[in-house]
Amino acid sequence: MNSKGIANVPEAEAARAVAEAARTEWGGTTLVGPEVAAMPPLTPQSPYWADLTARHGDAALLMSANENPLGPSPAAQAAIQTAVTELHRFPDPRALSLKQAVAAHHQVSEDAVVIGHGANELIERLVRTFVGQGETVVSAWPSYAVYRLVGHAAGREVLLAPLRDGRYDLVGLAALVDLRTKLVFIANPNNPTATYVPHRALVAFLERIPRSVIVVLDEAYAELTDAADFPDSFSLLPLRPRLVVLRTFSKAYGLAGLRVGYGVMDPELVPYLDRVRQAHNVSSVGQAGALAALTDQAHVATSRRVIRQGVHALTAGLKALSLSPLPSQTNFVTVALPKNADGVVRALAERGGYIRRLAGYGLEDTLRITVGRPAENQRILEMLDDLRHLWR
Ligand SMILES: Cc1ncc(COP(=O)(O)O)c(C=O)c1O
Repeated sequence: MNSKGIANVPEAEAARAVAEAARTEWGGTTLVGPEVAAMPPLTPQSPYWADLTARHGDAALLMSANENPLGPSPAAQAAIQTAVTELHRFPDPRALSLKQAVAAHHQVSEDAVVIGHGANELIERLVRTFVGQGETVVSAWPSYAVYRLVGHAAGREVLLAPLRDGRYDLVGLAALVDLRTKLVFIANPNNPTATYVPHRALVAFLERIPRSVIVVLDEAYAELTDAADFPDSFSLLPLRPRLVVLRTFSKAYGLAGLRVGYGVMDPELVPYLDRVRQAHNVSSVGQAGALAALTDQAHVATSRRVIRQGVHALTAGLKALSLSPLPSQTNFVTVALPKNADGVVRALAERGGYIRRLAGYGLEDTLRITVGRPAENQRILEMLDDLRHLWR
């Protein structure tokens, strides 16, 4: 670690070494730049659900990817079925109906909304659009890995402030912001630690950050929170022009497979993001399904209720196993074991239970368990109870 954030210097050195090794004999040009050369190929961290159900049938417990255990709303499913009949047509490149529905839902103007192929595409597009050469991206670690990946893929420096007790350290984050900083990403609530930044702390942070910096609040789990002091970030948008709020249909709306997300921001930013996108970035089926899902807020409310109950059940069950899970405002619970998370995850998988180990985030013996249906939460706790000798 260095004073400028974590892990930047060794990565740069590794990048140079790999790029040197990759130099071809064709006039000294390289196949890829040093940033791409230094990146490992993407290895999915969660097993693909269909492989697991093929192997374990109904006994598979798919609790590793922070999906909604209730699935998509019936209204979304019906809209998708209808949209399928028009699949020979290109999608609306403006995603106009969905954009209007999102604008009405949040009571913002239509020109403040950007629709993306998942929130991930918007994260990538924000970096590619706004972070120029020599400018930096600032975020925290462990936090959502995509900020770092897309920053590096774009050849930009990414500075990461370590979490404090599993939470964003906003003082540490602000300390990384300097004249080169263009984008700050805050995952709120945070993945993979499930903690959140409350409203007042966020406002105080925003007041400290130069107004030239674009602050992105990635609120992928916001619809699932119930903390009274969770930020009302839409109320902050008129106060700070360079604020972006990202949401997704992958979590509370149960549509992770559809790949639709959106951002709400100052309309001044929108045309720039529109320059750096594929015309048909969101499929017709995606637009139709997301639109119907948005109108079915009853399904979102049921999802929130069931997931909050699941968070409480998992938290209580883990505490009964003498563990100390972090407080969660998401659809997963994060918990450190005294040792041997690897052995526990492998033993669970043999029994058909899939949860996520967070070693890739530098949390060697920490587990992330996605909330399932009530019976699934019960079963994973029973399995863990059976395996407790592995971490004793
Ligand atoms: C913090 C955070 N942001 C964004 C995403 C991805 O959202 P999408 O599926 O819309 O790309 C996730 C999904 O795991 C997430 O945890």
